[in-house]
Amino acid sequence: MNAITPKKLFIRTYGCQMNVYDSERMSESLTDAGYTAVDTPDEADLVLLNTCHIREKAAEKVYSELGRMRKLAEEKATRGETMRVGVTGCVAQAEGEEIVRRQPLVDLVVGPQAYHRLPAMLDALDAGQGAQVETDFPAEDKFAALPKRARRASPSAFLSVQEGCDKFCAFCVVPYTRGAEFSRPVAQVMTEARRLAESGVREVTLLGQNVNAYHGEDDGGTATLASLARQIAQIDGIERIRYTTSHPNDMDDDLIAAHGDLPELMPYLHLPVQSGSDRILKAMNRKHTADSYLKLIDRIRAARPDMAMSGDFIVGFPGETDADFEDTLALIDAVGYAQAFSFKYSPRPGTPAASSEQVPEPVKEERLVRLNDLLRVHQIRFQDSCVGRVLPVMFEKTGREPGQLTGRSPYLQPVHVYAPDNMIRQIVPVRIDATFPNSLSGTLIEETA
Ligand code: 5AD
Ligand code: SF4
Repeated sequence: MNAITPKKLFIRTYGCQMNVYDSERMSESLTDAGYTAVDTPDEADLVLLNTCHIREKAAEKVYSELGRMRKLAEEKATRGETMRVGVTGCVAQAEGEEIVRRQPLVDLVVGPQAYHRLPAMLDALDAGQGAQVETDFPAEDKFAALPKRARRASPSAFLSVQEGCDKFCAFCVVPYTRGAEFSRPVAQVMTEARRLAESGVREVTLLGQNVNAYHGEDDGGTATLASLARQIAQIDGIERIRYTTSHPNDMDDDLIAAHGDLPELMPYLHLPVQSGSDRILKAMNRKHTADSYLKLIDRIRAARPDMAMSGDFIVGFPGETDADFEDTLALIDAVGYAQAFSFKYSPRPGTPAASSEQVPEPVKEERLVRLNDLLRVHQIRFQDSCVGRVLPVMFEKTGREPGQLTGRSPYLQPVHVYAPDNMIRQIVPVRIDATFPNSLSGTLIEETA
């Protein structure tokens, strides 16, 4: 497998944290196959576009990026260099062979369940077997087949524990691109978590499209996300645990209780609601109401009073009236989100809502602006409420200003602090002095004492 001269790999990652994790794992598996990572496609022998299909014209964006890659490949050819190009991720899964038909430059098309086959597919290319397309959901387990985790610079790492989704929200392409729900067995997750801890990781973010539906095999039984988190919290060195993304209907009593009594579970929860209108929630096939969501948040906050909430919102879902939209604004006021993501509805081919009559674009646009204005008010309110508090900050990297480090608060806010480099990886108390829209700044408590 070892190449004589190291080949150079560039991966461009689009979309969600799951893709960030997948890119890391692909990079590790290709390192074992003789590749080193580089920072630009210019330097690379192999370029992978790890794509996202969740919204707006995703496939078109990939094709235009491939157009740019084609020009780059042609320039390189004049210098006698070759460059291979692969498309991975959800657009690869959705488009398959079509990608090679539309852009013959492409050598590899690999769906998210087949990444462990990349080295073998590259060997097949070397053997002159032509473009390789792999979008099946293979029987073998890609996680078991991927190499062990590499040593890492950051004290924070993603760990994928669950993939796929069985919920079939009417707007969402995930159940089609990532397939049915699958949970990694506890033993496998624990091995990876221990390995991360040994390499200096102190915070793990458990990832899954529907992570709180986790139901991994555990000693002949089934573990919940709460029991998995409790086991991970036992690992020496792991101080913080987060998880994303969750569905309201899978927030079970167990998990809510863990937020109350497991200090490693951070008080920040991304719990998308999508809309505050019961009519629209029904049309979205969400299977919860605005009221059941609010009651759920009351229960979560009863367990963990300082829980910072995050969410996702879609405006302009087919059939959404002004009154429905007002219900969404009212729900936002009732929850008081610390931060949130908002999207205009974008019809995804093959999903149930795509064929319904669409809300006109200017209406979507106007609603998005109003929604964002309101979310910003809540975000600033939350940021301001942190001023004067002492928060434990985990330093992750050097900051923008010389002498500064950037870390994260328990509520996931970036915090900028003047602190020596050797404090990276440490979790220390910081007094919050000032806020910015998306971050905080503070002072080491020792210095101010
Ligand atoms: N249009 C707009 N937003 C969408 N999302 C998922 N599918 C669509 C779509 N078709 C949003 C949802 C989801 C987030 C990851 O992306 O809010 O929670
Ligand atoms: Fe998509 Fe999330 Fe709904 Fe699953 S629960 S279909 S991933 S929006």
